[in-house]
Amino acid sequence: MTPTPKPLRVLTGINTTGTPHLGNYVGSIRAAVRASRQPGVQSFYFLADLHALIKCHEPARIQRSTLEIAASWLAAGLDPEHVIFYRQSDIPEIPELCWLLTCVTGKGLLNRAHAYKAAIDKNAATGTEPDDGVTAGLFMYPVLMAADILMFQAHKVPVGRDQVQHLEMARDIAASFNHLYGGHLVLPEADVDDNVALLPGLDGRKMSKSYDNTIALFAPRAVMHKQIMGIVTDSRGPGEPKDTEGSALYAIYRAFADDDESARFARAFANGISWADAKQQLFERIEQELEPMRARYEHFMQHPDEVEVVLKAGADKARAIATPFLDTLRHAVGLRNLTQQARPARAAVHPDKSGLPNFKQYREKDGLFYFKLVASDGAVLLQSKGFTAPRAAGQAVAKLRTGGPTALPEFAAVLQHPASASAKAALALLYALQHASGAAQ
Ligand code: TRP
Repeated sequence: MTPTPKPLRVLTGINTTGTPHLGNYVGSIRAAVRASRQPGVQSFYFLADLHALIKCHEPARIQRSTLEIAASWLAAGLDPEHVIFYRQSDIPEIPELCWLLTCVTGKGLLNRAHAYKAAIDKNAATGTEPDDGVTAGLFMYPVLMAADILMFQAHKVPVGRDQVQHLEMARDIAASFNHLYGGHLVLPEADVDDNVALLPGLDGRKMSKSYDNTIALFAPRAVMHKQIMGIVTDSRGPGEPKDTEGSALYAIYRAFADDDESARFARAFANGISWADAKQQLFERIEQELEPMRARYEHFMQHPDEVEVVLKAGADKARAIATPFLDTLRHAVGLRNLTQQARPARAAVHPDKSGLPNFKQYREKDGLFYFKLVASDGAVLLQSKGFTAPRAAGQAVAKLRTGGPTALPEFAAVLQHPASASAKAALALLYALQHASGAAQ
């Protein structure tokens, strides 16, 4: 194993689609900027513009959104001196690593990605071709994301809950690579913060672009005011006590104010503050935090050249790490200078199969054909019922070996016991090795 790089490396990608809204600020930008100032941590923040190409085929929007997002993070206080802040497409090592990883990634692994499955299911629901409208880019999304992370040997990856599966896949992919080529890649961990405030939007549902209920983060002051005045409330008039419970207005206030301020705001609700006054107070409280940032945001939007300089400097820092590391990985897989002595390839790449669970097929006295999955310590993990034809048993074994635990339900009826957790783990391991060593041949 390569020694764990020190200090702790934290890395996260920011999608460059759309304009950031208050929900993004409260849910990720604000906490990330704070965390990036922690001593003893090396933080990587990047604009995932290669990922953006998957969803957006409008060049001007890609460019605009990249600028807006970069300007937002800088305005919110991300310090490019202290963190490595770069644009994914400035790092050619990432797509190159993506290919190395693609060649050790089971297609079946990608078939199970939530986003891909959702697209397939949607097509099934409308009776269209399963892959209709699905680009290979969407299918490959998890591999590119793994390359983002593994390129910098990140230990922790702060993400939303919806990204946890992608992190698991990055670990699987890294494990396959390491198994074949030596322990070069760090297995990253998702860092999900369930305490961050989920901000309600204008209509009280979660603030989200897809609900069209967002308040733009750095809209001009007058626009922000108008949007806040548009937050949905109940019909209680001035003087009538109001509930903080379930009030979007109160929840948004709470996300900006400290405990004392929030308690005061709650008392005003109980004392019958008018909705108009409450909205005005909310607006002023948000402005207190955002006004200075908005000025910086507007400055960056007017001076894209300055943002470009920041990102290029970030890319230099990132590439100072990525270029030599990719050289190591290229060498590891055999993309080498031909004058270097070639090592016996087989020995280098052939995985050591001792200590692995093993399928055994055999015939019993009853004349039937059986199989079992046996752990290296001899424990029987799966035991089949008898098959009349050896071929049927062999096919079941082959499917379980190549399909991993997801193939299990199909064979539940031919097993003597329901599969235990250790049987599933053993199948997952065999599956990982199967596609990894399959790729090596
Ligand atoms: N997929 C992430 C999201 O939708 C964005 C992203 C791309 C990312 N590459 C990454 C996040 C690498 C963390 C690490 O939010």
